[in-house]
Amino acid sequence: MNILWNADKYAKDFSFVHQYGNGVLELIDTGKANTAIDLGCGNGVLSGKLRDMGLDVIGIDSSPEQLAIARRDFPDINFIEADAISFEVNKPVDVIFSNAVFHWIDKDKQSNMLHSIHASLVKGGQLVFEMGGYGNNMLIHRELSKAFNRRGLKYRIPFYFPTIGEYAAMIEKEGMLVTYAILFDRPTALNGDEGMNDWIRMFIRTPFKDVDKETENEIINETAENLRNDLFKNGTWYSDYVRLRMKAIKP
Ligand code: BEZ
Repeated sequence: MNILWNADKYAKDFSFVHQYGNGVLELIDTGKANTAIDLGCGNGVLSGKLRDMGLDVIGIDSSPEQLAIARRDFPDINFIEADAISFEVNKPVDVIFSNAVFHWIDKDKQSNMLHSIHASLVKGGQLVFEMGGYGNNMLIHRELSKAFNRRGLKYRIPFYFPTIGEYAAMIEKEGMLVTYAILFDRPTALNGDEGMNDWIRMFIRTPFKDVDKETENEIINETAENLRNDLFKNGTWYSDYVRLRMKAIKP
């Protein structure tokens, strides 16, 4: 997962990412758990909530920028810099929790991550997560793709958004048993008049890697304009999120 986060802007304008994490936390059976990993913990806000639920938490993230904020805001929590596809812990935990992270991992690396998760859970341990699911941000990616194509450029969606069936099969292949799964639409309000432009600038990085700044700005403005009909309602921009929420147990 390679992204250089603007951690302060992320915390200020995209706090909905952890606010929505609360619903995922409710899937954890705390009666059976003492220890947890927050995988892709970012700025640590949800690690703090796991701690407040009585769990002894380790936050894992690959971004030093995000971890600096997490360590500043939650000095009592142990945060470790590691990649989700290859992390290891000294002692297996009861719960692995993750919010809005797994879609950043390429499809061909997912089994590595699920393998690390399996190895880091105790027998009977719970994997509880939410990620972008099949069809996530379809309107945004479709308009970006058209704007790239109009300039003779190729656009590839830089995320992995699986169906329930596809992801459940991957989890079960790694030896865990899926006990809950839901795929649902969650249109999400963005902040400010420039909400869509800001969202694209924050999250869509790799497709613009070889595009000059002027063309990038043109593409972003044009994409936002073409999305206005569908995603700007009563003065507010919305992102067309689709969530995949799942729970699995290590038998
Ligand atoms: C998501 O949470 O679904 C998401 C966030 C940023 C980029 C892509 C997907």
